[in-house]
Amino acid sequence: MLAGKRILLIIGGGIAAYKSLDLMRRLRDQGATVVPVLTRAAEEFVTPLSVAALAGHKVYRDLFDLNEEAEMGHIQLSRSADLILVAPATADLMGKMANGLANDLASTLLMATDTPVMIAPAMNVRMWEHPATRRNLATLTGGGITCVGPEEGAMACGEFGPGRLSEVDQIVAAVADHFADGPLTGRHVIVTSGPTHEPIDPVRYIANRSSGAQGSAIAAALVALGAKVTFITGPASVAPPAGVDVVAVETAQAMYDAVHAALPADAAIFAAAVADWRVTNASGSKMKKDGSGSLPQLEFAQNPDILATISQLEEHRPELVVGFAAETDDVIANATLKRARKGCDWIVANDVSPETGIMGGAENAVTVITAEGGESWPRAGKDEVARNLAAKIAKALT
Ligand code: C5P
Repeated sequence: MLAGKRILLIIGGGIAAYKSLDLMRRLRDQGATVVPVLTRAAEEFVTPLSVAALAGHKVYRDLFDLNEEAEMGHIQLSRSADLILVAPATADLMGKMANGLANDLASTLLMATDTPVMIAPAMNVRMWEHPATRRNLATLTGGGITCVGPEEGAMACGEFGPGRLSEVDQIVAAVADHFADGPLTGRHVIVTSGPTHEPIDPVRYIANRSSGAQGSAIAAALVALGAKVTFITGPASVAPPAGVDVVAVETAQAMYDAVHAALPADAAIFAAAVADWRVTNASGSKMKKDGSGSLPQLEFAQNPDILATISQLEEHRPELVVGFAAETDDVIANATLKRARKGCDWIVANDVSPETGIMGGAENAVTVITAEGGESWPRAGKDEVARNLAAKIAKALT
């Protein structure tokens, strides 16, 4: 079931670490190769020797072990796996992951990786319920990390409640699920996301308030359904999700080029807030006040419309092209006109008036406009909107 799959297993320091020994055996029984990484704290609970014996593989323990660096650098180690599984994931490890700390081998691997990550938390019930852990979990799952458990039950510390590591069977099943085919397996989807930056001079640019949150959530939801996602992103404040091929761009023109280079695709979802205009007389050096009170005279040209161009391609037009319409007035009427003007299949329309708090916020309320008309969805978290949209895309492509 897991034949040919390489799983980097990061074992965190908690009493549940002993279950990782059985977990490794069970993953190997399914045909997986298990590459174990032990945190310092984990070594207090399980020995490197027993981990190596059950993994049938060398144990990685220290970021500064030069032999290991010479053999396989931590960057390569983090990317050579098909899945990174953190079990048990302690409150400390989750906190490091959510906040981007990288001060030991395990946390550095988790920061450096571009492969999907799954966590199986285990901790005391109060720690699990602590607001900091709730926030960290939301950040991690929002970024596309899958969480298995924890379960409710009696704990080694004598308390009762959620916080027990999931049973080994359940973790193995979640790993198998992760590799199972989804409705979008074998499909290639391009997603654009974030704002673009249009330079005025080397230090100034024209931008917009897009955070990239909705684009990242859509890409994560498509990956979860098995799609291969090329994620073409402007300078967003929300990180790209795990498991996508990231192409980072700055300007609308660079985004246009990247989208064309990523074709062919089965679907293209244009969630980016692309600047309509660029400055044609951008200065090569920083513009300065000259004391006379004269003002810079910026000249503009229109950027290429990526959505319209791709929608109207004669060759290699994706089967499904989806655009977004961020409007402040007459949202549905304007979005319906936009769908016809651009030639795309669907427009996902939303009201970005400041009072909605949608642009840059955590929630979205959208109307999906298709050839059949408009379908308004209730206001929900951007993750939920993304999952619903990904499910609708999967249905349209199959
Ligand atoms: O024309 P408007 O910017 O309102 O259209 C928004 C939709 O068009 C979004 O899907 C956006 O990603 C896309 N777009 C584009 N290229 C542009 C401008 C907008 O792909 N230059």
